[in-house]
Formats: sequence, structure tokens, C-alpha cells
Amino acid sequence: MNSKKIIGKIAKSNYLPVILLVAAILFSLRFFDQISFMANPVEYILFAFGNTAIYLFLINAYIPFVLLISPKGLGLAGLKKHRRLIGMLSYLFVVLHVATYMLSEPWEELANNIVRPFILIGMSGFLILSMLAVTSNNKSIKKLGKKNWKNLHRFLYLMIPILFLHISAKDKNNPSASLIIFAPLVLSYLIRLFYFLKNRNKSSYAT
Ligand code: HEM
Repeated sequence: MNSKKIIGKIAKSNYLPVILLVAAILFSLRFFDQISFMANPVEYILFAFGNTAIYLFLINAYIPFVLLISPKGLGLAGLKKHRRLIGMLSYLFVVLHVATYMLSEPWEELANNIVRPFILIGMSGFLILSMLAVTSNNKSIKKLGKKNWKNLHRFLYLMIPILFLHISAKDKNNPSASLIIFAPLVLSYLIRLFYFLKNRNKSSYAT
């Protein structure tokens, strides 16, 4: 079997999300053996779940770009069918992240923290991702209608500035770390937009 066929089979395989979930769990637990030496183990868990959520989010966000730039014959189109599940996996780790935060502070502290910019921004991100997660099913597409559903899921683009601000707003982190994560993604979106507009113009000239 040639390599293209193998890649195509892996991309279509129903095991891919399972492999991704296992990889995500191993990624978030990679320093777990050192937790007893950590000054603040809860913070480690908060970061671990937050970072795993973001990397799954990024993997999902890059799939359309990978499909755009990769040769059609490579058979990667099968990746498309996993986007919903990868999105839900990312949301699972967001919920674990937020739950860790909610359980790690007394209620008064949580109430006081609500006004902190990176918490407010995190909450707006959580609300958007919850709305997208709840409507990530065929029943919602039918109920909302394809056009409305697509418009609703365009809120995903808002997650880029929201997550960038959430991670870089934190006092301990300089924005450059978040820029390294998000700048390539924004570039990939701009390239996709360029091709979208180019093809749209081409088809409007054709008709
Ligand atoms: C209600 C919503 C949220 C709350 C309350 C929240 C809370 C927090 C807190 C307290 C921190 C650590 C700050 C510190 O260092 O002291 C943090 C960091 C982080 N959060 Fe959130 N968060 C929320 C939503 C999100 C979402 C939706 C994502 C991603 C999809 C996310 C990803 C992250 C990441 C990646 C970090 C930084 C980890 C690092 O610097 O390594 N958070 N969040």
C-alpha cells in the first residue's frame, strides 16, 4: 500500500480522535509525577487543562488550512469528519480547566476575581465555546437551518483574540508567548480568506 493510501486511511480512521484524546491526556499529565514537589499543584492542573484545551483548539483550527495547502491526492480530506469530535474534546478540557478553577478558590475569592480582565475574557470564551458545543449536532443544524448554524459557528473566529487576551492578560506571562501560538494561526486564516475571495471572484466572473 503506498504512503498516500496509508495517510488517507489514517485521516479517515475512527481511531484518530481516540489517539488524539489519549495524546491530550498524556500531554496534560506529563509533569504529574512532579506534582508533590510543586508549590501550587492546583495551578499546574489549571495550566495543564488550559493548555491541552488550546492545543486541541489549534489542531482543529488548522485542519481547513492543511486541507487547502496539501495536495488533493494525499487523501487528507478524511480529517474533515473529525472536526466536530476534536472540537468537543477541546471543550472537555476547557470544562476541566474551568472546573479546576472553580474548585480551587473559595467563593468570595471567585466573586472578587470576576472583575479581573483575564477571568472576564476567559468567561466570555467559555460562554462562546459552550454555545458552539451545545449546537455541534445535526439536530441543531436542522433546527437553526444550515445558514444560521454556519453564522453562529463563525463566533469561533472571535475565540482567537479572546484566547490571545486570556493567556497574555495574565500578569505572569508576556504577550510574546501567546503571539508565538496565535500569529501563525491568524496567518493561516488570512491565506484561507485570500483563496476564498479569489475563488469567489473567479466563480462570479464565470457566471
Ligand atoms: C470561565 C472561564 C475561564 C476561567 C475562569 C479561567 C481561569 C484561568 C486561570 C485562573 C488561569 C491561570 C492564571 C494564573 O496563572 O494564575 C488561566 C490560564 C489559562 N487558561 Fe483559562 N480560564 C477560563 C477559560 C479558558 C478557556 C476557554 C481556555 C481555552 C480554550 C483557557 C485556557 C487557558 C490557558 C491556556 C491558560 C494559561 C496557561 C499557561 O500560561 O500556561 N481558559 N485560566
